[in-house]
Amino acid sequence: MKIVHVASEMYPYVKTGGLADAVGSLATTLADRGHEVLVFLPGYRAVMDHPDAGKAERVQKLRIEMGDVFMSGEVRAFSPRKNLTVYLVCREEFFDRRHPYGNGERDYEDNHHRYIFFCKGVVELLRLNTMRADIVHGHDWQTGLLPVLLRHAEQRHGVTLAMKTIYTVHNIAFQGVFPMRSFYRTNLPEELQGIDGVEFYGQMSMMKAGLLFADRVTTVSPRYSLEIQTQEFGCGLDGVVKTRADDLVGLINGIDTQVWNPATDTLLPAKFSAQDLSGKGTCRAELLTRTGLTAGPKVPVFGMVCRLTEQKGVQLVLANKAFFEREDVRLIVLGTGDRKLEQGMRDLIATLPAKVAFAPRLDEAMSHLVEAGSDFFVMPSLFEPCGLNQMYSQAYGTVPLVSKVGGLVDTVIDVDADPANGTGIMFPPTEAGLATGLTRALRLHADATRYAATQRRGMQRDFSWDRAAEAYEALYEDSL
Ligand code: ADP
Ligand code: GLC
Repeated sequence: MKIVHVASEMYPYVKTGGLADAVGSLATTLADRGHEVLVFLPGYRAVMDHPDAGKAERVQKLRIEMGDVFMSGEVRAFSPRKNLTVYLVCREEFFDRRHPYGNGERDYEDNHHRYIFFCKGVVELLRLNTMRADIVHGHDWQTGLLPVLLRHAEQRHGVTLAMKTIYTVHNIAFQGVFPMRSFYRTNLPEELQGIDGVEFYGQMSMMKAGLLFADRVTTVSPRYSLEIQTQEFGCGLDGVVKTRADDLVGLINGIDTQVWNPATDTLLPAKFSAQDLSGKGTCRAELLTRTGLTAGPKVPVFGMVCRLTEQKGVQLVLANKAFFEREDVRLIVLGTGDRKLEQGMRDLIATLPAKVAFAPRLDEAMSHLVEAGSDFFVMPSLFEPCGLNQMYSQAYGTVPLVSKVGGLVDTVIDVDADPANGTGIMFPPTEAGLATGLTRALRLHADATRYAATQRRGMQRDFSWDRAAEAYEALYEDSL
């Protein structure tokens, strides 16, 4: 099949979260399985600075209609491996910036213009190069307008650009909602401003457009596909999602086993596997040294790697301060984000300097060390569309402590509920829920045989992208 992916992030070129990992792995796996894969990304500065993209060549000059003006740009392309071409939609004014979405304090004020331009650039390149894709697959709010822009261009020019369009929701909490006065920049028919179009409480919602106008809608776990149809998790779009229930499917992400495999991981001081866990001890020792902590083997080390946001339940960890005061345990947190939560972490280390360490930065190598060197991985998310770290931690023999939401439910088996198959510990996404989870972790750790069996079961699970890519292939074929 000829498959076009359109996204705002792709590992290893630009990444702020799991979206990049998911898009990068899905695209390369599909290419390795013999499909012709084209990925479109905005020509962000981070991407242009990547050595691969340095080799990119201009394939097309663009002149994009944005309401009553035309804006120029260009598409550059490079091919990082067989069957895979990455296209960069470039316009310096929009994309040559330090960060993809904002300055750290606030989102950029022209984000709607940036992503309307991006989606139109994709459609225009397909049109000018008379490409006919089997599948055009957009990800998250930045590409929400893509399906409708594509169909509109097909009508206008009397061409076929895509047989089917797919739209994947990686996180319904980010919807791309902007003032309706910018709608005219899309050049879409006026009636689409209404309730049956992009209108969302008087504003324009890009994600709503994706949900309504794609041929098929997917999200990143079966559980989350049900959750987003409820008021509790739907962030106001549950009604819209429900109208697409027949065309909606939840497909769980995989993990990139080239990058996340303890037996081959070059970012670790020692490698290990389910057969021989001795290297994990070396990783644990190195993690403690690097964070300035000490802990004997009987002292459980809890690790955490995430964006510091309420979604990830960092506030629940802070609220459980009493546990870390009372028990002989260690906590190591790697992450940046919300100022208040960062301050909360700083206050926690100030009170418990011998027990808690905090690295407020983005650090890929360190994230591998935390996954490998911890005894438990803590992920008390309030909601979690899929989540990757709980899969990484199982692969690395680090027992995950997760809340009972979204993809966490689909990828972790609770060891107390199912002692024969359990790989982790699950609890409700509340302060009290996490407290019970932490206490159960102490009990599990004290029973060395049961802990080791739980570890090994996690390490033996198959989270490979091949399995996940097969599910997407089946969906593409079914839609065609
Ligand atoms: P989300 O996309 O909601 O942030 P995921 O679990 O899907 O959550 O993916 C998060 C990804 O970002 C993982 O690959 C994780 O290792 C990585 N990550 C998060 N914070 C950091 C950090 N401070 N340093 C390095 N990697 C990080
Ligand atoms: C989003 C979600 C996360 C998911 C990732 C990749 O960032 O928050 O749960 O794993 O997308 O699909």
